[in-house]
Amino acid sequence: MICVSKNESNLKSQNLKIKGKKILEGKVKISGAKNSALVLLAASLLTNEKVILNNVPKLSDIEKMKNILKHLGVKLNSNNANNLIINSKNLHIGDNLPFELVNGLRASFFCIGPLLSMLGEVTLALPGGCKIGKRPIDQHITGLRELGANIEVKDGFVNAKIQGKKKKLVGSKILLSCPSVGATETLIMAATLAEGRTVIENAAREPEIQDLCLMLNKMGAQIHGYGNSKITIDGVEKLSGCKHKVIPDRIEAGTFLIASAATLSNITIGPVIPNHLESVLETLKATGSKIFIKGNEITIKTKEIKAVNIKTAPFPGFPTDLQAPFTALMAIAKGNSEISETIYENRMGHVDLLNRMGASIQLVNNIAKIQGVDELKGQNLKGSDLRSTAALIIAALSAKDTSYIGGLEHLDRGYDCFESKLNILGANITRNFNEQIFFNQTIVDENISKNTEKFKAA
Ligand code: EPZ
Repeated sequence: MICVSKNESNLKSQNLKIKGKKILEGKVKISGAKNSALVLLAASLLTNEKVILNNVPKLSDIEKMKNILKHLGVKLNSNNANNLIINSKNLHIGDNLPFELVNGLRASFFCIGPLLSMLGEVTLALPGGCKIGKRPIDQHITGLRELGANIEVKDGFVNAKIQGKKKKLVGSKILLSCPSVGATETLIMAATLAEGRTVIENAAREPEIQDLCLMLNKMGAQIHGYGNSKITIDGVEKLSGCKHKVIPDRIEAGTFLIASAATLSNITIGPVIPNHLESVLETLKATGSKIFIKGNEITIKTKEIKAVNIKTAPFPGFPTDLQAPFTALMAIAKGNSEISETIYENRMGHVDLLNRMGASIQLVNNIAKIQGVDELKGQNLKGSDLRSTAALIIAALSAKDTSYIGGLEHLDRGYDCFESKLNILGANITRNFNEQIFFNQTIVDENISKNTEKFKAA
């Protein structure tokens, strides 16, 4: 698939012109998982032998992570569009990783475990919080300390050091206060080369963690119990290179299923791993969609959209990363629904934006109380983060007339060729590179003529 090449620097001024009410049909290819590929790139630092990653998605977050690895002396090559050959034999930290490199990508913090184990000491910028929440890292820090690291957090940086002559972490029993995905990943990676056994209790169970452990075990690690909330890691002397294929992106898959349901369409997605989407499939069936699973493909057919309550939860619960897209679906459901976000304290930015499209949603303490409406109307709006921008696109696909959706600097972080894939299914979306659009995030001026389709830059 040839995706429209995007000039990163002006993503903020790009937008999608979306003609609503198009029925989707056909088959769409699901890319490799962003949240797996990012941590697998960090894990490749745990060996000085070659790691070959296949099915790597083309995303701006992946490009940022590659830049971080290059800054660490890692050699990166590829012999096709979606694979990476990673060689960390010259791994080193010259001057500290540039703040803007690390602060701009939370996943960069996944490097702390491997760098600490391989180099004995590392200083990384604290990963920034973001629009959806504070994103603390206390569980990462506490766990690394329990493995024997000396950690100092000062002036926005984290310095981690292994004491003692052996320069090795020491296995320990760690109980996480919450099933943090990132903390579980950091501690698994750090424990693979520690001395002795580490047991992580209340570990996160996400498929991306299972993918990480599969790759690490291919490299010679001894990890058991992943996918459950108790993971055991027996430290080994060293890890070797390997070849690994990134799992399909369950969040991209779920986004397409929801987009199909919102447009009363009938599409097939693949490849997917159906049991990574169980809670999403059950929820979509409850809303009235018909779901058919055939091997690594899923077909969804929708004739009606019924209101259904959901509460986000750690895997295998309903994923927080699909909460915003699902809210766009419930906005046009028959009946009233409640959507509770339990993972992040500030991941409801899309509610106000959907209301500007004619939705009827009240936000009370991180719970969206939704009265389904018959139809949304096209608007010019800018998404505030990765998944809220996807939610606006879904709303625009279902709405009458045309919308202009901005926030593509967020969208391109996590969706590989999103509008190109939707157009293959029959959507009518054009990426505007330089047509300035006025996004009416401010109070809508009632005097603006109703039939004005787009507003010239103010
Ligand atoms: C990963 O983030 C994903 N990102 C997120 O996807 C996803 O939403 C999240 O897991 C939950 O599934 C990547 O994998 C790169 P967490 P992560 O640590 O690791 C608390 C997307 O849209 N917490 O499970 O940062 C805190 O309240 C992104 O693709 C602590 O209290 O998630 C946090 O909000 C967004 N202390 C919540 O757990 C800690 O030390 C979830 O965090 C760590 C976390």
